[in-house]
Amino acid sequence: MVSSTSSTSTVRILSFLLILAITYIIFVPAHPTKTTLLPPTDHDRQASWYETHISTSKPAKDTSVDAESDIVQKETEQQDDSQPPSDIGDHISSNNEAVDDDQLTEEEKAVQADHQAHGQNEPTRDRPKLPGKPDTTKHSTAPSHTSIITELDLPEIRHHTQTNNASAAEHLILVVTHDESHWGHVDGTPRTFPSFLEFLNDTSGLPAPSISLAILTTTESAYGHYVSALSTHPYAKAQVLLYTPTIPEDEGPADRHTASFQAIRRKQIAVARNVLMFTALTTEAHIFYFDSDVIDASPGICAQMLKQASDPNITMSPNITLPETILPVGLITARAQDGGTYDYDLNAWYKQREQHMHDLLPFANSEEMFPLQSVGGTLLYINAVLVRQGLSFPWWYVVGSTWDKEGGDGIETEGICYMAEKLGYGCWGLGGDWHVVHSQ
Ligand SMILES: *[C@@H]1O[C@H](CO)[C@@H](O)[C@H](O)[C@H]1NC(C)=O
Ligand SMILES: *[C@@H]1O[C@H](CO)[C@@H](O)[C@H](O)[C@H]1NC(C)=O
Ligand SMILES: *[C@@H]1O[C@H](CO)[C@@H](O)[C@H](O)[C@H]1NC(C)=O
Ligand SMILES: *[C@@H]1O[C@H](CO)[C@@H](O)[C@H](O)[C@H]1NC(C)=O
Repeated sequence: MVSSTSSTSTVRILSFLLILAITYIIFVPAHPTKTTLLPPTDHDRQASWYETHISTSKPAKDTSVDAESDIVQKETEQQDDSQPPSDIGDHISSNNEAVDDDQLTEEEKAVQADHQAHGQNEPTRDRPKLPGKPDTTKHSTAPSHTSIITELDLPEIRHHTQTNNASAAEHLILVVTHDESHWGHVDGTPRTFPSFLEFLNDTSGLPAPSISLAILTTTESAYGHYVSALSTHPYAKAQVLLYTPTIPEDEGPADRHTASFQAIRRKQIAVARNVLMFTALTTEAHIFYFDSDVIDASPGICAQMLKQASDPNITMSPNITLPETILPVGLITARAQDGGTYDYDLNAWYKQREQHMHDLLPFANSEEMFPLQSVGGTLLYINAVLVRQGLSFPWWYVVGSTWDKEGGDGIETEGICYMAEKLGYGCWGLGGDWHVVHSQ
């Protein structure tokens, strides 16, 4: 009897425990939210605060607007109910005295209230600008970063597009020019933009309907003329960019070869190349960068680059030491000659400048390529995927640069292979007699 009672109660206790367990499984989520079971740590709260406040609110392009909006944002953060706990708020208020609410004018407070009414996730560029503070507080008399940024004269970029068939645009041809007198000379006569187009048609080996052409110029009159010259064209698409940098242009041939002049000039060229490339590229798979004063080339040279890009054939000559890892083709260049020089382009080299392109050329035939660590820009093939990943022409000496100083090498075309390698792609040169001809 005693034993039967005790076994009945054991069964009851076990059933009760079972029901409890089932209830627990059903009603308590597998990954309980931290707020239900554990108090959120500062880290958790900061993380979610960032998600709702930061990640969705930074699409602005105009840096002057952005800078002001940052101040606006910081100011509203002070009033925000859900402001981040612990050190984020402290950090803002201790490092930026200008955000002190007591110093806000009535107008600023109205702006602030308006922002709160509209929520924090609106793009910062849509927020109204704060009026300038009156010159009465110590903060407004001291020069602030905001005013410096606002005074920067941003270059103008004007962009014209003429599309015949966007989905056929496969080969993006890019050319940076200064003005209409920079298309080189043929037999002592200045070449014109229309004759550059004829040259492309005759030598690139690319079908016109697959070409997407984009020209950058720095003068308004050239811009107008290129736009009208391309009002009808046989290409998939044609684009003209007017880009007016604020740095003074070429100061005359006398200075051209001084090191500092070269650095300034190459920085300008690198930036212009990037502006054109990033503005023009949409869905094209391949990019061909031409120097505007390339006046002739081996017929079919672009088609040969495409062939090597999709089915690379690398020299096995014992005279060329290949890199330890053969990287897939990212960029390809070709020998550049001018009237008097067989290989004009001194920016194409290998083995940290120990070997120039002309040292390697004899060991690769026309069906082969040889490795390079640096390229020039006379004609440059670039796999467009790399540009989508962020590849660009460095505008400073990127190789060996540290936080406080520039490096010793790798500006403009000379740095692009260095960057491509970090993305896992290599640079190559066309062997044999493939070449372009540079105007003298
Ligand atoms: C546009 O290009 C695509 C891809 O090459 C082609 O299939 C299509 O027929 C072209 N459309 C016209 C109107 O030419
Ligand atoms: C392009 O070249 C072809 C021959 O390859 C020629 O028939 C055509 O007229 C040229 N077009 C232009 C615009 O020069
Ligand atoms: C190329 O390599 C071969 C074999 O190593 C050697 O005999 C020849 O001298 C080299 N040629 C040049 C031009 O360096
Ligand atoms: C690669 O180059 C060799 C010559 O060195 C040539 O015989 C061969 O046909 C080439 N292969 C391709 C796919 O072009």
